Amino acid sequence: MKEKEPLMKKFKISDFKDQTGKVVVITGSNTGLGYELALRFAQRSATVVMAVRNLDKGKSAQQKILSLVPDAKIVLQKLDLNSLESVNQCIIDLTNQFKQIDILINNAALLGITTLTNEGYEAQFGVNYLGHALLTFGLLDTLKNTPNSRVITVGSNAHAKRKIPSFSDIRTPIKGTFKAYSRSKLANTIFSLKLADELKDTHILSVNAHPGLTATDIIRKFARLIRWIAKKIVMQDVSMGVLPILYAASENVQSGQYYGPSGYKERRGYPKLVQSSKKSKDPNLQNELWSLTIKELQKQGYDYSDRLPNIN
Ligand SMILES: NC(=O)c1ccc[n+]([C@@H]2O[C@H](COP(=O)([O-])OP(=O)(O)OC[C@H]3O[C@@H](n4cnc5c(N)ncnc54)[C@H](OP(=O)(O)O)[C@@H]3O)[C@@H](O)[C@H]2O)c1
Repeated sequence: MKEKEPLMKKFKISDFKDQTGKVVVITGSNTGLGYELALRFAQRSATVVMAVRNLDKGKSAQQKILSLVPDAKIVLQKLDLNSLESVNQCIIDLTNQFKQIDILINNAALLGITTLTNEGYEAQFGVNYLGHALLTFGLLDTLKNTPNSRVITVGSNAHAKRKIPSFSDIRTPIKGTFKAYSRSKLANTIFSLKLADELKDTHILSVNAHPGLTATDIIRKFARLIRWIAKKIVMQDVSMGVLPILYAASENVQSGQYYGPSGYKERRGYPKLVQSSKKSKDPNLQNELWSLTIKELQKQGYDYSDRLPNIN
C-alpha cells in the first residue's frame, strides 16, 4: 500500500525565504526551470552561479534577470554536460572562485536526442546524469566546507515509467523519445537517494524534487502543434513548476526526500512530499548504478572514490 504523505501548508513564491549570503549553483539556467530558479534566488539576494553550455544564451538570461533585479549577484559559468572535460573545468573554476557553495541544483537536461556525448555515452545518460554525478563529486569538498549545504537533483515523473532500459549498455543511442530520458531520470533519482545515504554522516543534504508537467523548452524536439497544445493546455506555468525545487532547496527537509506537485498524478500544484518509484529504491539497482558511475568516471580519469566513504 502507498504511504500516506503528511499534509503540507501551501508553499508559494512569497514563502521562499531570504537567501542573502548563500551561493547557489544552477545548471542549465539560461531557460526553463533553471532560469526561473536563477531569477527567484536573485530576487532573494543569493549569489547565483548560472552554469550554462552556451555563454551567449547565458548572457542574455543574465541581462534579463538584471533588468528585473538590478542588484542581482550573478556569475556566469561555462558548463557543457555533454563533455566530462567541460564538467571538470567547471569544477576547477568554481573551486577556485568560491570557498562556499550552499546549494547545488542539478537541473539541466535534454530529451529526445539520439547522439552520443563527447566521451561516447548515450546523450541523455551522459548529460542528464553522468555529467551531474561528476559535477557533484567534484564540488563535494566545497559543499563539505559550507554549513547546511544541499545537493538538489531535479527529477521527473518519467523516472517511474514501466519499461525503462537497463544500465547494462550506456553507450548506444536509444530510439523512442522517452526511453533514454526516463532511464536518465531514474538514474538522477537513484543518485539522489544513494548520495543521501553516502553522505549520512555529513551535514550535506541530498534532496530530489520534480516539477510535474511544466511549460518549458524541454519539449523543443516535438512538433509545433504538440508543443503549443502541451504548453497551453497540459503543462503548468514555470512559476508553479519551480516550487517543489525551491522548497527542497530552502525549507526544513530531510536528506533522501523527494518533493513534487500535489495535484493529480503529481502533474501540477503546490509542493508536497512524494515517493519515488519502487525501482529507484531497489538496493541492488542503486549499487549497480553507483559502482558503474564511479568506474566510468575513473575510466575517464576522474577518480573521486576517496571523497565518498561508503563506496561498493
Ligand atoms: N518541463 C517539464 O515538464 C519537466 C518535467 C519533469 C522534469 N523536468 C526536469 O526539469 C529540468 C529542467 O528542464 P526544463 O523543463 O527547464 O527544460 P529546458 O527548458 O529545455 O531547459 C533545459 C536546460 O538544460 C540545458 N542543457 C541541455 N543540454 C545541456 C548540456 N549539454 N550542458 C549544459 N546544459 C544543458 C539547456 O541549455 P540550452 O538552452 O543551451 O539547450 C537548458 O538551459 C530537467 O532536469 C528536466 O528533466 C522538466
